[in-house]
Amino acid sequence: MKILITGGAGFIGSHVVRLFVNKYSNYQIYNLDKLTYAGNLANLTDIEGKPNYTFIKGDIVDADFINKLFAEHKFNAVIHLAAESHVDRSISNPLEFVYTNVIGTVNLLNAAKTTPDFKLFYHVSTDEVYGSLGDTGMFTETTAYDPHSPYSASKASSDHFVRAYHDTYKLPVVISNCSNNYGPYHFPEKLIPLCINNIKNNKPLPIYGKGENVRDWLFVEDHARAIDVIFHKAKHGSTYNIGGHNEWTNIAVIRLLCRIMDKKLNRAAGANEKLITFVKDRAGHDLRYAIDSTKLQNDLGWKPSLQFEEGLEKTVDWYLANDEWLDNVTSGSYQKYYESQYVKR
Ligand code: NAD
Ligand code: DAU
Repeated sequence: MKILITGGAGFIGSHVVRLFVNKYSNYQIYNLDKLTYAGNLANLTDIEGKPNYTFIKGDIVDADFINKLFAEHKFNAVIHLAAESHVDRSISNPLEFVYTNVIGTVNLLNAAKTTPDFKLFYHVSTDEVYGSLGDTGMFTETTAYDPHSPYSASKASSDHFVRAYHDTYKLPVVISNCSNNYGPYHFPEKLIPLCINNIKNNKPLPIYGKGENVRDWLFVEDHARAIDVIFHKAKHGSTYNIGGHNEWTNIAVIRLLCRIMDKKLNRAAGANEKLITFVKDRAGHDLRYAIDSTKLQNDLGWKPSLQFEEGLEKTVDWYLANDEWLDNVTSGSYQKYYESQYVKR
Protein backbone atom coordinates (compact mmCIF):
# COMPACT_ATOMS: atom_id res chain seq x y z
CA MET A 1 0.00 0.00 0.00
CA LYS A 2 1.38 3.40 -1.03
CA ILE A 3 -0.14 6.14 1.14
CA LEU A 4 0.19 9.85 0.41
CA ILE A 5 -0.09 11.92 3.59
CA THR A 6 -0.42 15.64 2.83
CA GLY A 7 0.66 18.28 5.35
CA GLY A 8 2.82 15.73 7.17
CA ALA A 9 5.36 18.35 8.26
CA GLY A 10 2.71 20.27 10.21
CA PHE A 11 1.50 19.78 13.77
CA ILE A 12 -1.06 16.95 13.45
CA GLY A 13 0.35 15.60 10.17
CA SER A 14 3.75 14.92 11.77
CA HIS A 15 2.09 12.79 14.47
CA VAL A 16 0.10 10.88 11.83
CA VAL A 17 3.20 10.29 9.67
CA ARG A 18 5.19 9.09 12.69
CA LEU A 19 2.46 6.69 13.79
CA PHE A 20 1.98 5.18 10.30
CA VAL A 21 5.72 4.91 9.52
CA ASN A 22 6.50 3.23 12.84
CA LYS A 23 3.42 0.99 13.01
CA TYR A 24 3.11 -0.17 9.39
CA SER A 25 6.49 -1.17 7.94
CA ASN A 26 4.56 -2.82 5.07
CA TYR A 27 3.16 0.57 3.93
CA GLN A 28 5.16 3.08 1.90
CA ILE A 29 4.42 6.50 3.40
CA TYR A 30 4.90 9.60 1.22
CA ASN A 31 4.72 12.93 3.02
CA LEU A 32 3.78 15.78 0.64
CA ASP A 33 4.21 19.23 2.15
CA LYS A 34 4.82 22.72 0.80
CA LEU A 35 6.73 23.66 3.97
CA THR A 36 4.84 26.87 4.53
CA TYR A 37 5.61 28.80 7.73
CA ALA A 38 3.70 25.99 9.54
CA GLY A 39 5.60 23.07 7.99
CA ASN A 40 8.77 21.99 9.73
CA LEU A 41 10.81 18.87 8.94
CA ALA A 42 12.38 19.09 12.39
CA ASN A 43 9.04 17.61 13.54
CA LEU A 44 10.08 14.33 11.90
CA THR A 45 13.83 13.90 12.49
CA ASP A 46 13.25 10.64 14.41
CA ILE A 47 11.74 8.87 11.37
CA GLU A 48 13.32 10.64 8.37
CA GLY A 49 15.79 7.79 7.70
CA LYS A 50 13.22 4.96 7.79
CA PRO A 51 13.07 2.85 4.59
CA ASN A 52 9.26 3.15 4.29
CA TYR A 53 9.28 6.99 4.45
CA THR A 54 9.74 9.54 1.64
CA PHE A 55 9.40 13.32 1.86
CA ILE A 56 8.22 15.27 -1.18
CA LYS A 57 8.20 19.05 -1.20
CA GLY A 58 5.29 20.42 -3.24
CA ASP A 59 2.16 22.53 -3.40
CA ILE A 60 -1.30 20.90 -3.60
CA VAL A 61 -2.57 24.04 -5.38
CA ASP A 62 -0.39 23.16 -8.40
CA ALA A 63 -2.67 20.80 -10.38
CA ASP A 64 -0.02 19.80 -12.98
CA PHE A 65 2.41 18.86 -10.25
CA ILE A 66 -0.25 16.84 -8.37
CA ASN A 67 -1.37 14.98 -11.52
CA LYS A 68 2.23 14.08 -12.42
CA LEU A 69 2.93 12.95 -8.85
CA PHE A 70 -0.08 10.59 -8.85
CA ALA A 71 0.81 9.30 -12.34
CA GLU A 72 4.34 8.56 -11.17
CA HIS A 73 3.58 6.92 -7.80
CA LYS A 74 0.05 5.55 -8.28
CA PHE A 75 -0.88 6.04 -4.62
CA ASN A 76 -3.47 3.61 -3.21
CA ALA A 77 -4.70 6.03 -0.53
CA VAL A 78 -4.51 9.64 0.60
CA ILE A 79 -4.71 11.01 4.14
CA HIS A 80 -5.25 14.72 3.51
CA LEU A 81 -4.19 17.12 6.26
CA ALA A 82 -2.47 19.91 4.29
CA ALA A 83 -4.27 23.16 4.98
CA GLU A 84 -3.98 26.72 6.09
CA SER A 85 -5.14 26.15 9.66
CA HIS A 86 -5.08 29.38 11.67
CA VAL A 87 -8.37 31.28 12.06
CA ASP A 88 -6.69 34.68 12.69
CA ARG A 89 -4.66 34.38 9.48
CA SER A 90 -7.84 33.52 7.57
CA ILE A 91 -9.37 36.79 8.74
CA SER A 92 -6.47 38.82 7.32
CA ASN A 93 -5.87 36.69 4.18
CA PRO A 94 -8.96 34.62 3.21
CA LEU A 95 -7.87 33.88 -0.37
CA GLU A 96 -4.86 31.83 0.69
CA PHE A 97 -7.35 29.58 2.53
CA VAL A 98 -9.50 29.22 -0.59
CA TYR A 99 -6.44 28.22 -2.66
CA THR A 100 -5.02 25.61 -0.33
CA ASN A 101 -8.07 24.32 1.50
CA VAL A 102 -10.57 24.31 -1.38
CA ILE A 103 -8.64 24.23 -4.67
CA GLY A 104 -5.83 22.11 -3.21
CA THR A 105 -8.38 19.55 -2.00
CA VAL A 106 -10.17 19.45 -5.37
CA ASN A 107 -6.81 18.96 -7.15
CA LEU A 108 -6.12 15.93 -4.95
CA LEU A 109 -9.65 14.55 -5.51
CA ASN A 110 -9.23 14.88 -9.28
CA ALA A 111 -5.91 13.05 -9.23
CA ALA A 112 -7.24 10.31 -6.92
CA LYS A 113 -10.32 9.81 -9.13
CA THR A 114 -8.18 8.85 -12.14
CA THR A 115 -5.64 6.69 -10.29
CA PRO A 116 -6.06 2.93 -10.86
CA ASP A 117 -6.51 0.71 -7.77
CA PHE A 118 -7.24 3.75 -5.59
CA LYS A 119 -8.70 2.57 -2.26
CA LEU A 120 -9.38 5.55 0.01
CA PHE A 121 -9.38 9.36 0.21
CA TYR A 122 -9.36 10.26 3.92
CA HIS A 123 -10.13 13.94 4.47
CA VAL A 124 -9.12 15.39 7.85
CA SER A 125 -11.46 18.20 8.85
CA THR A 126 -12.53 20.26 11.81
CA ASP A 127 -15.47 20.72 14.20
CA GLU A 128 -15.49 24.43 13.21
CA VAL A 129 -17.58 23.58 10.11
CA TYR A 130 -20.57 23.12 12.46
CA GLY A 131 -20.40 26.72 13.70
CA SER A 132 -20.89 27.82 17.28
CA LEU A 133 -22.90 26.32 20.17
CA GLY A 134 -24.74 28.11 22.97
CA ASP A 135 -24.44 26.93 26.57
CA THR A 136 -25.81 23.45 25.84
CA GLY A 137 -25.72 20.75 23.16
CA MET A 138 -22.93 19.06 21.20
CA PHE A 139 -21.96 18.66 17.54
CA THR A 140 -22.92 15.28 16.08
CA GLU A 141 -22.18 13.96 12.59
CA THR A 142 -25.62 15.19 11.44
CA THR A 143 -25.36 18.76 12.76
CA ALA A 144 -25.95 21.21 9.89
CA TYR A 145 -22.89 23.07 8.62
CA ASP A 146 -22.75 26.72 9.72
CA PRO A 147 -19.17 28.02 9.36
CA HIS A 148 -18.39 31.57 10.48
CA SER A 149 -14.72 32.28 9.76
CA PRO A 150 -13.02 32.21 6.35
CA TYR A 151 -11.02 29.23 7.69
CA SER A 152 -14.08 27.20 8.68
CA ALA A 153 -15.89 28.23 5.47
CA SER A 154 -12.97 26.91 3.41
CA LYS A 155 -12.89 23.63 5.39
CA ALA A 156 -16.68 23.25 5.05
CA SER A 157 -16.35 23.78 1.30
CA SER A 158 -13.63 21.11 1.06
CA ASP A 159 -15.82 18.66 3.04
CA HIS A 160 -18.67 19.25 0.57
CA PHE A 161 -16.35 18.57 -2.40
CA VAL A 162 -15.13 15.32 -0.81
CA ARG A 163 -18.74 14.11 -0.34
CA ALA A 164 -19.63 15.26 -3.86
CA TYR A 165 -16.80 13.14 -5.33
CA HIS A 166 -18.09 10.14 -3.40
CA ASP A 167 -21.67 10.62 -4.57
CA THR A 168 -20.89 11.66 -8.15
CA TYR A 169 -17.79 9.64 -9.08
CA LYS A 170 -18.01 6.84 -6.46
CA LEU A 171 -14.61 7.84 -5.07
CA PRO A 172 -14.06 5.92 -1.80
CA VAL A 173 -13.87 8.65 0.88
CA VAL A 174 -14.11 9.14 4.64
CA ILE A 175 -14.16 12.41 6.59
CA SER A 176 -13.41 13.10 10.23
CA ASN A 177 -14.17 16.34 12.07
CA CYS A 178 -12.02 16.87 15.13
CA SER A 179 -12.01 19.34 18.02
CA ASN A 180 -9.02 21.45 19.17
CA ASN A 181 -5.77 19.53 19.39
CA TYR A 182 -2.83 20.29 21.69
CA GLY A 183 0.57 18.65 22.28
CA PRO A 184 4.18 18.61 21.04
CA TYR A 185 5.10 20.36 17.73
CA HIS A 186 2.07 22.72 17.92
CA PHE A 187 3.01 25.97 16.15
CA PRO A 188 3.29 28.81 18.71
CA GLU A 189 0.70 31.05 17.06
CA LYS A 190 -2.09 28.88 18.54
CA LEU A 191 -3.37 29.60 22.07
CA ILE A 192 -1.65 26.89 24.14
CA PRO A 193 1.88 26.88 22.62
CA LEU A 194 1.79 30.70 22.28
CA CYS A 195 1.11 31.00 26.01
CA ILE A 196 3.70 28.35 26.94
CA ASN A 197 6.30 30.34 24.98
CA ASN A 198 5.17 33.66 26.44
CA ILE A 199 5.17 32.36 30.03
CA LYS A 200 8.66 30.99 29.48
CA ASN A 201 9.79 34.44 28.28
CA ASN A 202 7.74 36.42 30.84
CA LYS A 203 5.65 38.04 28.11
CA PRO A 204 1.91 38.97 28.23
CA LEU A 205 -0.65 36.22 27.61
CA PRO A 206 -3.21 37.70 25.16
CA ILE A 207 -6.73 36.47 25.94
CA TYR A 208 -9.37 37.48 23.39
CA GLY A 209 -12.48 39.18 24.84
CA LYS A 210 -13.26 37.93 28.34
CA GLY A 211 -11.75 34.47 27.85
CA GLU A 212 -15.22 32.89 28.10
CA ASN A 213 -15.09 31.03 24.76
CA VAL A 214 -15.11 27.26 25.19
CA ARG A 215 -12.98 24.74 23.29
CA ASP A 216 -12.98 20.93 23.56
CA TRP A 217 -9.31 19.90 23.84
CA LEU A 218 -7.84 16.59 22.61
CA PHE A 219 -4.23 15.40 22.92
CA VAL A 220 -2.79 15.24 19.39
CA GLU A 221 -1.61 11.60 19.66
CA ASP A 222 -5.21 10.60 20.45
CA HIS A 223 -6.30 12.31 17.22
CA ALA A 224 -3.60 10.41 15.29
CA ARG A 225 -4.82 7.11 16.81
CA ALA A 226 -8.39 7.97 15.81
CA ILE A 227 -7.23 8.64 12.22
CA ASP A 228 -5.51 5.23 12.19
CA VAL A 229 -8.69 3.45 13.35
CA ILE A 230 -10.98 5.35 10.95
CA PHE A 231 -8.58 4.85 8.03
CA HIS A 232 -8.63 1.08 8.53
CA LYS A 233 -12.20 0.44 9.69
CA ALA A 234 -14.65 3.13 8.55
CA LYS A 235 -17.26 2.44 5.91
CA HIS A 236 -16.69 4.39 2.68
CA GLY A 237 -18.76 7.56 2.53
CA SER A 238 -18.95 7.85 6.32
CA THR A 239 -18.12 10.71 8.67
CA TYR A 240 -16.78 10.52 12.23
CA ASN A 241 -16.54 13.22 14.87
CA ILE A 242 -13.42 13.08 17.07
CA GLY A 243 -13.26 14.88 20.41
CA GLY A 244 -12.06 14.64 23.96
CA HIS A 245 -15.29 15.33 25.91
CA ASN A 246 -13.10 17.94 27.50
CA GLU A 247 -14.57 21.45 27.47
CA TRP A 248 -12.68 24.37 28.97
CA THR A 249 -13.09 28.14 28.81
CA ASN A 250 -9.94 29.77 27.44
CA ILE A 251 -9.32 31.61 30.69
CA ALA A 252 -9.53 28.35 32.68
CA VAL A 253 -7.02 26.69 30.30
CA ILE A 254 -4.57 29.55 30.68
CA ARG A 255 -4.95 29.68 34.49
CA LEU A 256 -4.21 25.93 34.64
CA LEU A 257 -1.21 26.41 32.35
CA CYS A 258 0.05 29.26 34.57
CA ARG A 259 -0.17 27.03 37.66
CA ILE A 260 1.65 24.13 35.96
CA MET A 261 4.39 26.48 34.76
CA ASP A 262 4.75 28.24 38.15
CA LYS A 263 5.92 24.86 39.45
CA LYS A 264 8.00 23.82 36.42
CA LEU A 265 9.86 27.16 36.33
CA ASN A 266 10.18 27.43 40.13
CA ARG A 267 8.21 30.69 40.19
CA ALA A 268 6.05 31.86 43.11
CA ALA A 269 2.46 30.56 43.08
CA GLY A 270 0.38 33.08 41.07
CA ALA A 271 3.38 34.70 39.35
CA ASN A 272 2.46 33.60 35.82
CA GLU A 273 -1.22 34.60 36.16
CA LYS A 274 -0.07 38.22 36.38
CA LEU A 275 0.92 37.91 32.70
CA ILE A 276 -2.73 37.42 31.63
CA THR A 277 -3.84 40.36 29.45
CA PHE A 278 -7.33 40.72 28.01
CA VAL A 279 -7.19 42.00 24.42
CA LYS A 280 -9.63 42.88 21.62
CA ASP A 281 -11.82 39.93 20.66
CA ARG A 282 -11.40 37.92 17.44
CA ALA A 283 -13.92 39.02 14.77
CA GLY A 284 -16.78 36.49 14.49
CA HIS A 285 -15.35 34.56 17.45
CA ASP A 286 -17.25 31.24 17.87
CA LEU A 287 -18.48 30.93 21.47
CA ARG A 288 -18.40 27.21 22.12
CA TYR A 289 -17.38 23.95 20.44
CA ALA A 290 -18.22 20.53 21.91
CA ILE A 291 -17.92 17.26 20.03
CA ASP A 292 -20.07 14.19 20.54
CA SER A 293 -17.77 11.31 19.54
CA THR A 294 -20.19 8.53 20.58
CA LYS A 295 -20.32 7.12 17.02
CA LEU A 296 -16.53 6.69 16.90
CA GLN A 297 -16.41 5.21 20.40
CA ASN A 298 -19.30 2.77 19.79
CA ASP A 299 -18.58 1.77 16.15
CA LEU A 300 -14.81 1.62 16.16
CA GLY A 301 -13.83 1.35 19.85
CA TRP A 302 -11.66 4.52 20.00
CA LYS A 303 -11.46 6.63 23.14
CA PRO A 304 -9.15 9.41 24.36
CA SER A 305 -6.24 8.12 26.46
CA LEU A 306 -5.20 11.19 28.47
CA GLN A 307 -6.85 13.48 31.03
CA PHE A 308 -6.34 17.16 30.09
CA GLU A 309 -4.25 18.05 33.19
CA GLU A 310 -1.90 15.14 32.45
CA GLY A 311 -1.72 15.95 28.72
CA LEU A 312 -1.08 19.64 29.36
CA GLU A 313 1.74 18.87 31.80
CA LYS A 314 3.27 16.45 29.28
CA THR A 315 3.02 19.20 26.63
CA VAL A 316 4.70 21.80 28.88
CA ASP A 317 7.50 19.30 29.63
CA TRP A 318 8.02 18.74 25.91
CA TYR A 319 8.28 22.48 25.15
CA LEU A 320 10.66 23.11 28.04
CA ALA A 321 12.88 20.19 26.92
CA ASN A 322 12.84 21.36 23.29
CA ASP A 323 14.13 24.92 23.54
CA GLU A 324 15.96 24.65 20.27
CA TRP A 325 12.83 23.63 18.32
CA LEU A 326 10.87 26.51 19.86
CA ASP A 327 13.64 29.07 19.30
CA ASN A 328 14.08 27.99 15.65
CA VAL A 329 10.35 28.23 15.02
CA THR A 330 9.90 31.60 16.67
CA SER A 331 12.96 33.06 14.89
CA GLY A 332 11.91 31.58 11.52
CA SER A 333 15.45 30.28 10.93
CA TYR A 334 14.18 26.73 10.21
CA GLN A 335 12.73 27.90 6.90
CA LYS A 336 16.06 29.16 5.60
CA TYR A 337 17.58 25.74 6.42
CA TYR A 338 14.93 23.90 4.40
CA GLU A 339 15.30 26.15 1.40
CA SER A 340 18.92 25.05 1.18
CA GLN A 341 18.08 21.34 1.68
CA TYR A 342 15.23 20.78 -0.78
CA VAL A 343 14.84 21.72 -4.39
CA LYS A 344 11.35 22.90 -5.32
CA ARG A 345 9.77 20.60 -7.94
P1 NAD B 1 -0.64 23.04 10.50
O1 NAD B 1 -0.89 24.44 10.05
O2 NAD B 1 0.22 22.81 11.69
O3 NAD B 1 0.00 22.21 9.30
C1 NAD B 1 -0.45 22.31 7.98
C2 NAD B 1 0.61 21.69 7.08
O4 NAD B 1 0.13 21.80 5.71
C3 NAD B 1 1.97 22.41 7.13
O5 NAD B 1 3.02 21.46 7.21
C4 NAD B 1 2.03 23.16 5.81
O6 NAD B 1 3.35 23.33 5.33
C5 NAD B 1 1.20 22.27 4.90
N1 NAD B 1 0.62 23.01 3.77
C6 NAD B 1 -0.06 24.19 3.84
N2 NAD B 1 -0.40 24.59 2.59
C7 NAD B 1 0.04 23.63 1.74
C8 NAD B 1 -0.03 23.48 0.33
N3 NAD B 1 -0.62 24.40 -0.44
N4 NAD B 1 0.51 22.37 -0.24
C9 NAD B 1 1.11 21.42 0.55
N5 NAD B 1 1.23 21.54 1.90
C10 NAD B 1 0.69 22.63 2.48
O7 NAD B 1 -2.08 22.39 10.68
P2 NAD B 1 -2.59 21.32 11.76
O8 NAD B 1 -3.04 22.03 12.96
O9 NAD B 1 -1.60 20.23 11.85
O10 NAD B 1 -3.91 20.81 11.00
C11 NAD B 1 -3.82 19.73 10.07
C12 NAD B 1 -5.20 19.45 9.50
O11 NAD B 1 -6.08 19.10 10.56
C13 NAD B 1 -5.85 20.65 8.81
O12 NAD B 1 -6.55 20.19 7.69
C14 NAD B 1 -6.79 21.22 9.86
O13 NAD B 1 -7.89 21.86 9.24
C15 NAD B 1 -7.21 19.96 10.57
N6 NAD B 1 -7.61 20.13 12.00
C16 NAD B 1 -6.79 20.78 12.87
C17 NAD B 1 -7.13 20.85 14.23
C18 NAD B 1 -6.25 21.54 15.25
O14 NAD B 1 -6.66 21.69 16.40
N7 NAD B 1 -5.03 21.95 14.91
C19 NAD B 1 -8.34 20.29 14.66
C20 NAD B 1 -9.17 19.65 13.73
C21 NAD B 1 -8.77 19.56 12.40
O1 DAU C 1 -11.66 23.32 16.64
C1 DAU C 1 -10.62 22.87 15.81
C2 DAU C 1 -9.79 24.05 15.36
O2 DAU C 1 -9.00 24.44 16.49
C3 DAU C 1 -8.90 23.73 14.17
O3 DAU C 1 -9.69 23.42 13.06
C4 DAU C 1 -7.98 24.92 13.84
O4 DAU C 1 -7.09 24.57 12.79
C5 DAU C 1 -7.18 25.25 15.09
O5 DAU C 1 -6.35 26.37 14.84
C6 DAU C 1 -8.11 25.52 16.27
O6 DAU C 1 -8.86 26.75 16.07
P1 DAU C 1 -9.11 27.79 17.27
O7 DAU C 1 -9.38 29.11 16.68
O8 DAU C 1 -10.08 27.24 18.26
O9 DAU C 1 -7.63 27.74 17.96
P2 DAU C 1 -6.69 28.91 18.55
O10 DAU C 1 -5.58 28.22 19.27
O11 DAU C 1 -6.35 29.92 17.52
O12 DAU C 1 -7.64 29.58 19.62
C7 DAU C 1 -8.18 28.85 20.69
C8 DAU C 1 -9.07 29.79 21.47
O13 DAU C 1 -8.24 30.76 22.12
C9 DAU C 1 -10.04 30.58 20.62
O14 DAU C 1 -11.26 30.77 21.35
C10 DAU C 1 -9.34 31.93 20.40
C11 DAU C 1 -8.55 32.10 21.69
N1 DAU C 1 -7.26 32.81 21.57
C12 DAU C 1 -6.40 32.43 20.58
C13 DAU C 1 -5.19 33.07 20.44
C14 DAU C 1 -4.22 32.69 19.34
C15 DAU C 1 -6.95 33.80 22.47
O15 DAU C 1 -7.73 34.10 23.39
N2 DAU C 1 -5.72 34.42 22.34
C16 DAU C 1 -4.84 34.11 21.36
O16 DAU C 1 -3.76 34.73 21.28
